[in-house]
Amino acid sequence: MHAELVAMGFQPEPVVGGVELTLPWAELQHLLRSLRCAARVYVRIATADVRDGQELRRLLASLPWSMWPLPQAVTVRWAVRKATSARAGWLAHETERILALRPVGEHAPLTLLMRVTGPEVEVSVDVAGRPMHQRGWRKEQGEAALRESVAAAMLREVGYDGTQALWDPMTGSGTLAIEAATWRQPATWRPWDLDAWHLPAHVPASEPELPRRGAIVAGDRDPEVLAIAQRNAERAGVAAAIEFRAAEIAGQLHDGFRPACVVVNPPWGRRLGGRNEARRLLERLAAVLVRDAPGARLAALVPEPQAIRDLPLIDARSRQIDCGGASLYLISGTIAVHPVRRLR
Ligand SMILES: C[S@@+](CC[C@H](N)C(=O)[O-])C[C@H]1O[C@@H](n2cnc3c(N)ncnc32)[C@H](O)[C@@H]1O
Repeated sequence: MHAELVAMGFQPEPVVGGVELTLPWAELQHLLRSLRCAARVYVRIATADVRDGQELRRLLASLPWSMWPLPQAVTVRWAVRKATSARAGWLAHETERILALRPVGEHAPLTLLMRVTGPEVEVSVDVAGRPMHQRGWRKEQGEAALRESVAAAMLREVGYDGTQALWDPMTGSGTLAIEAATWRQPATWRPWDLDAWHLPAHVPASEPELPRRGAIVAGDRDPEVLAIAQRNAERAGVAAAIEFRAAEIAGQLHDGFRPACVVVNPPWGRRLGGRNEARRLLERLAAVLVRDAPGARLAALVPEPQAIRDLPLIDARSRQIDCGGASLYLISGTIAVHPVRRLR
C-alpha cells in the first residue's frame, strides 16, 4: 500500500495498520478508483476530547452534514483503545441517541468510524463504503478465491505494468487475470459512497487502456471454474483481453506463448489431499515453469515458506502477508532457465 502510493507520486506516512496522506477531495475521488492494494480508505474529519454529553454533541454537530445525502441513514463503527468498556458503551449509546440512529439496510450511504483513544474521539468517514477489494465484477467464485487487493499485490510483486505478457496457470475464478486486464483502468464497476456526496467535481482519468489482446493467458484444469472466470471477465468488460485455456498446467502453453510475468495461487491444504500432494503439485509446477516460462518474473501465493525451496527461482524472496485473517507467503523471483536443486 505504501509502495503503491509512492509509485503514484504521493508521500504517505506509515502509521500503525496503514498509511496517512493529505490531499484535496477532488484528487481523492480519482485516487480511490486507482488504488489496488488498499483494504479501506478513511478520511479523518474531526477530533476532540469527549468527557460528557455536551462535548459529544459538539463534536457530532461539527461534522460536515450538508456534504452527505440522507445523513439520517448512518452506520457507525467503533475502534476503542485505552478506554473502559463502560466508557465505550456510553459513547456508543449516546451517539446513537444524538444522531437518532436507526437500523439501516445492508448498506447505509454513510459509514463513520469513531476511534476512541483514552479521552479522545476521532471521527473518520469511510469514503468507499464497502471494502476496497470488492471491485464489483466478481459475482461468482470458485473455492479459495483470492482477495482482489492481494491479487494486485502479487501483480506489483512481478513488476506488472499492464502491458507485459502474463500467465495465470491456476486461475480459479479469474481474480489475478482480471485484475491484470483491468490494471490501467480506473475502477468503475462498483459504486463508491462518496459519488453521492456534494463534492467539487472531479476530472475523470484519461481514456482507459487495455493490454494487447491475447497478452494474458489464464488456465485451469477445471472447465467449470474457468467458465466462472470467463463470466467474471465479461462483467469486468475484459473478456477479450484474456485467453482462457481449460488444461493442466503442463498443457496450457502448447502454442509457444512466452510470458514475462507469471502469477500463481495453487490450491493447498486439505482441499488438495494434504501436504505431500501439495508438494508434488509444486514440483510439477516448478518443472513446467522452467520449460515454459524461463526468465519470467514469478509471484506465487503459498501457505508455507518452505515452498521457496521447491520453486525454481534465482533471486527468490518470501514475505508473509495477511489474506483476510490467514497468513500466507508471497514468494517471488525470476524463473531459472535450468531446474534448480536445493538441499532440504
Ligand atoms: C486456490 S485456487 C485459485 C483461486 C483463484 N486465485 C481465485 O481467485 O479464484 C487453485 C486453482 O488451481 C486449479 N488447479 C489445481 N491443480 C491444477 C493443475 N494441475 N493444473 C491446472 N489447474 C489446477 C484448481 O482447479 C483451482 O481452480
